[in-house]
Amino acid sequence: ILKEFEEKCATPIGKLRQVADAMTAEMHAGLASEGGSSMFKMLNSHVDNLPSGDENGLFYALDLGGTNFRVLRVQLGGRDGCVVKQEFTEVSVPHELMTSATSSELFDFIAKELARFIDTEGEGFILPPGSQRELGFTFSFPVKQLSIASGNLIKWTKGFSIDDAVGKDVVVELTKALDRQGIDMRVAALVNDTIGTLAGGKYLNNDVAAAVILGTGTNAAYVERAHAIPKSGEMVINMEWGNFWSSHLPVTEYDQALDQDSLSVGEQIFEKIISGMYLGDIVRRVLCKMAEEAVFFGDIVPPKLKTPFTLRTPEMSAIHHDTSANLRVVERKLKDIFGITGTSLETRRVIVDVCNIVATRGARLSAAGILGILKKMGKDTVKEGDKQRTVIAVDGGLFEHYTEFRSCLESTLSELLGDEVARTVVIEHANDGSGTGAALLAACHSQYPKVEE
Ligand code: BG6
Ligand code: GLC
Repeated sequence: ILKEFEEKCATPIGKLRQVADAMTAEMHAGLASEGGSSMFKMLNSHVDNLPSGDENGLFYALDLGGTNFRVLRVQLGGRDGCVVKQEFTEVSVPHELMTSATSSELFDFIAKELARFIDTEGEGFILPPGSQRELGFTFSFPVKQLSIASGNLIKWTKGFSIDDAVGKDVVVELTKALDRQGIDMRVAALVNDTIGTLAGGKYLNNDVAAAVILGTGTNAAYVERAHAIPKSGEMVINMEWGNFWSSHLPVTEYDQALDQDSLSVGEQIFEKIISGMYLGDIVRRVLCKMAEEAVFFGDIVPPKLKTPFTLRTPEMSAIHHDTSANLRVVERKLKDIFGITGTSLETRRVIVDVCNIVATRGARLSAAGILGILKKMGKDTVKEGDKQRTVIAVDGGLFEHYTEFRSCLESTLSELLGDEVARTVVIEHANDGSGTGAALLAACHSQYPKVEE
């Protein structure tokens, strides 16, 4: 079973190049198709000017769609990209609110957390007398934006499923909830987490040209040339690359089963083989088959092994990174998660192998995706005289905490680009950049004229 799985998950360099080419082709198709009929929505973010560094004032941000829901406030300094002070709080969204609530219940939860946080605003945050607080809303789901501060939810991803919110303008929904809580605040910008990460990254480093999220879900955004945009000639595009599919993708029976059991059958296939929400469950499915067909854990199949999502990706990462001589971490995790005891060292080694296969495939495919974007931007080759680096801002728990995944992604991208180009392309961790990015974009679209220092 292990051998067959390894073969099916193989990502030789030729296959990765095919995936990258398919990605570039789909980007062209997505840009050409009005109404998002293509696999890639290539959503117009309505961000045509990224932060310049002279934004100033107090701004709030909400960040919904990652592992935790976060509320932030930032005092921007107005000179050369300076954050004077920043505070945040984070809470996990109760599972019922993600799936069986109504849109108003979800937005009321958000607004209540925001109200609590506003109450703690203290020294160092300055709101000019008589002005209204303003907010950037990072909403990390596919949204058809109508303007910088309005947009309709296309569909939920990552296990969220609140039917009555689909098709609605999430800024209108949020504003209604703010009113219900008596919060006087204007939503100045609605952004995807990739867009927020790109904006936050660019604020700190002008060479940032694309952003990738590798966390619960996965997605990318990049700066596209747009002749129709008068001011900058550029537009930031949210690809929604999680929905990518190509016949070149190494999809196995376990991925197919995971997809069939999901809330979004046939959708988000790239995301389902790459991102943090799913990797652990792919491993669990392989182990379950080994238990059922090869008595891998003895005569009885441990019941918890049959339960979806019992193995989370952080636990998979801990198993994968176990460097102890007898794989004691693996032993402990098996006991804590599945109630499995008495495994041999050989069995534990096989489990580490399964984690390695799944993480390697995800990391190498992510690198292929990045190559696809670089190709679209014409940055996959070095042009004479062009000294500019291309920085890709990356954020998300998978990239941040899963060391093997991250180093495999980085080495695969270098391998794909070759030494000369690899020296011009930099992967940078944009730690929590999307919250700050949303606040910055709120500042760029403030109702108040910029106060010159
Ligand atoms: C956070 C960003 O750092 O990373 C969020 O602020 C983003 O906007 C998140 O959604 C993704 O990572 P994860 O692992 O929390 O899904
Ligand atoms: C999912 C969402 C997308 C988001 C990504 C990362 O793919 O659809 O909007 O950017 O997760 O959080």
